[in-house]
Amino acid sequence: MKDALEKIRQAAAAELAKCADSKELESLRVKFLGKKGELTGILKQMGGLSPEERPRMGQLANEVRASIEATLAEKQTALKSALLERQLRAERLDVTMPGGEIRMGKPHPLTLVMDEIKEIFLGMGFDVVTGPEVEYDRYNFEMLNMPKDHPSRDTQDTFYIDSNILLRTQTSPVQARVMEQTQPPIRVISPGRVYRSDAIDATHSPLFHQIEGLVVDKGITMADLKGTLEVFVKRLYGEDAVVRFRPHHFAFTEPSAELDTMCFHCHGEGCRLCKGEGWIELLGCGMVNPKVLKNCGIDPEVYSGFAFGMGLERVVMRRFNIDDLRLFFENDLRFLDQF
Ligand code: DAH
Repeated sequence: MKDALEKIRQAAAAELAKCADSKELESLRVKFLGKKGELTGILKQMGGLSPEERPRMGQLANEVRASIEATLAEKQTALKSALLERQLRAERLDVTMPGGEIRMGKPHPLTLVMDEIKEIFLGMGFDVVTGPEVEYDRYNFEMLNMPKDHPSRDTQDTFYIDSNILLRTQTSPVQARVMEQTQPPIRVISPGRVYRSDAIDATHSPLFHQIEGLVVDKGITMADLKGTLEVFVKRLYGEDAVVRFRPHHFAFTEPSAELDTMCFHCHGEGCRLCKGEGWIELLGCGMVNPKVLKNCGIDPEVYSGFAFGMGLERVVMRRFNIDDLRLFFENDLRFLDQF
C-alpha cells in the first residue's frame, strides 16, 4: 500500500507539472482526489490492514493528499496569472502606432459646379425646387405648348413608361408644376436629371443634367431676363465674361433666345475650342409664352415672366477642360480624384 501511495504522489506530481490549462487541471483533481479517484480507491482498502499499520498508512495517505492539494493550488495560481499575462499582451493598445488611412470621398465635378450655380441664384433671391424625373407627357410637353404633333418634340425623343408617362426630357416641366401651384411672384431654379434616347458618345448621353430657371411677376420684361443672366454668367465665369443673345425658337417662350458667351480662349476670333465660332452656346431662354401662363392658371394680362434652361455637363466640361462626357458616369477614381 505504501508503494501504491508513493506511486500516486509521483504520478500526480508528473502529470500536474505538464498540465497547461485549467480544464485539464480540474480533470486531474478528479482523477487523483475525487470520490472515485485513485487516492480514495486506496483508502477503501485500509480496512484490510493490521491495526498497527492502519494509522501509519492513514498518515501517509493524508500527506499524499496534502501534497497533491498544494501542487494543485500552486498550479492553479500559475495558470491564472499566465492567462492574465496572455490577455494583457493580446489587448495591449499601442498609442504610438500610426492610424489607418481613412479614404475621404469628394463631390463629383457635376455636383461641384451644380452647387456653385445654385449658390449664385440663391444669392439673387431664387428658391431651389425639384420635380419628378418620371413625368407626365402633359407637364413635359403639353402644358409647355408642345402638343402631341409638335415638330419640336422630335429633338426630344425619350423613354416612355406608357403613352402618358415618360422620363422627362427637360427640367422645364417643373416650371409648369410650380406655376400651377403658386401664384406670382415666382423666382425659382430647378436642377436635376433629364433623359433622351440618344446613343452614348463623347458629347451625348441618355442621362444628363439641366438647370431650369423661372421668374414670374408683374412687369417682368426682357431687360430683367438679360440683366439676370448676364450677372449669372459673370459670377460663373468672371467679370470680364461677355455674353450675347441670339434669336431662337422654343415653344414655351416668346420671344426666345440663346445666350452665348464669348470664347475665353480666342476672345471671339474663332479657335478650336469654340469650333471657329468665337462664341460658345450656354443656354436657352425667353419670355414665358402667354399660352403657357394661361395653361398653368396664371393670368397673362396681369403677369409676365422669363425662363431659361441650361445643360450642366457642357458647363462642367468647359470649366475643367474635359473632352469626353462619358467620364462623368464611369466612376473611375483616377478621374474623380482630380477635382
Ligand atoms: N428646355 C429647353 C431644352 O431642353 C431649354 C430651355 C429653353 C428652357 C428655353 C427654358 C427656356 O426654360 O426658356 O432644350
